[in-house]
Amino acid sequence: MGNKSIVIMPGDGIGKIVLPEAIRVLDAVGFKANYIEEDIGWEFWVKEGNALPQRTLDLLEEHRIGLFGAITSKPKAQAAGEISPELQGKGYVYYSPIVGLRQHFNLDICIRPCRSFKGNPLNFIRRRGDGFEEPGVDVVIFRQNTEGLYSGVEWTNPPPGVRSALETHPKMARFKDVPGADLAISCRIFSRPACHRIVKEAFIYAKKFGYKSVTICEKPNVIRETSGMMGEEAEKIAPGFPDIQLWFTNIDAQMMWLTKNPEDYGVIVAGNMFGDIVSDGFAGLVGGLGFACSGNIGKDCAVFEPTHGSAPKYADLKPSIVNPIAMILSSCMMLDYLGEVERANRIRNSIAAVIEEGNVRSYDMLRLPGGPGVLSQGASSTKQMTDAIIARINSGNL
Ligand code: NAI
Ligand code: MG
Repeated sequence: MGNKSIVIMPGDGIGKIVLPEAIRVLDAVGFKANYIEEDIGWEFWVKEGNALPQRTLDLLEEHRIGLFGAITSKPKAQAAGEISPELQGKGYVYYSPIVGLRQHFNLDICIRPCRSFKGNPLNFIRRRGDGFEEPGVDVVIFRQNTEGLYSGVEWTNPPPGVRSALETHPKMARFKDVPGADLAISCRIFSRPACHRIVKEAFIYAKKFGYKSVTICEKPNVIRETSGMMGEEAEKIAPGFPDIQLWFTNIDAQMMWLTKNPEDYGVIVAGNMFGDIVSDGFAGLVGGLGFACSGNIGKDCAVFEPTHGSAPKYADLKPSIVNPIAMILSSCMMLDYLGEVERANRIRNSIAAVIEEGNVRSYDMLRLPGGPGVLSQGASSTKQMTDAIIARINSGNL
């Protein structure tokens, strides 16, 4: 049997820098794949009026697994202004290609692990009466990726049929005198199968990796219908996993507690918006964007990506200074997905060893303002960080 084919989509800015670094690390652990590079991002919006060309969708249709760097997105009006002159005024509308990928392939579960590495100077610390302590964070967020407030069903000035349907709800009475042009509505839509699937997958993950709790992080006391449905599904699924506790938190309280006792949490499930918020919150405790990895997982297709964007400020710096670890950890998630857990762990252990040793640190780890000067202030380049991780892999000393 030939090697697995993987669609690689570097995208824009630092996506083009960090993705090849991850492939160097995959090579170093002996993972063999046939990488097929395909187009995505700003360049293709400007040239073709489509940031997510059909050829990219076709290739992913065929191979069902992708590794993605980052893209540049701009607001609609700015995007329309930057499209190439021959395409202007022809009705092209900019859509985020990564949101497009999630929707097209129904990548409905976004997994965002937030694990602290010992010795990372960016780790969260907590003051105690007699000094400081550094709780180890090991939280995995399951964010519903295709529904909720990001489902895209929204209007300013809703059409009359929508408005009259809404007015059948008694709570709409307070908006009855608001003119249509002054009324903006974004629907929060949850479907039972999607709630069921994400909670079930979260429990399966918790069981597989030994987490003691699954927390549903929503707001059912106020957002009764949608948050309520997620809770109902959780109550149905939890009894099948007697060794794992089911907890409920409200998103607002969770954001407070995550800096009080982050070590108490294991797997967290949330809808799209709250999942985005709570995962950024936890990512901030374990190093931020340079460390935040993710997987977008559908029933038969998956795309792995760092959480960060294209960081245009740093895209053209030579040598590059950005931290490749978020991208490398995303590729480890891809290995896990492919059943290559031993290789994934070898990479993660190498990253852990490099961080704990502390000789090689990217500028973000040193809390330096980014720029070409950071290398003379003790920061490592992107390549030096990857090289250190690879050297550790090659040493076999993990
Ligand atoms: P960003 O994530 O690209 O960068 C924000 C800041 O975080 C950077 O200026 C840098 O200080 C730091 N940073 C990001 N990645 C880093 C890394 N690997 N190592 C060290 N530091 C890192 O977000 P920003 O500036 O808000 O957006 C830039 C562009 O990226 C925009 O066009 C935005 O739409 C797009 N974007 C794309 C995403 C994606 O492709 N999934 C996600 C977020 C933003
Ligand atoms: Mg976000």
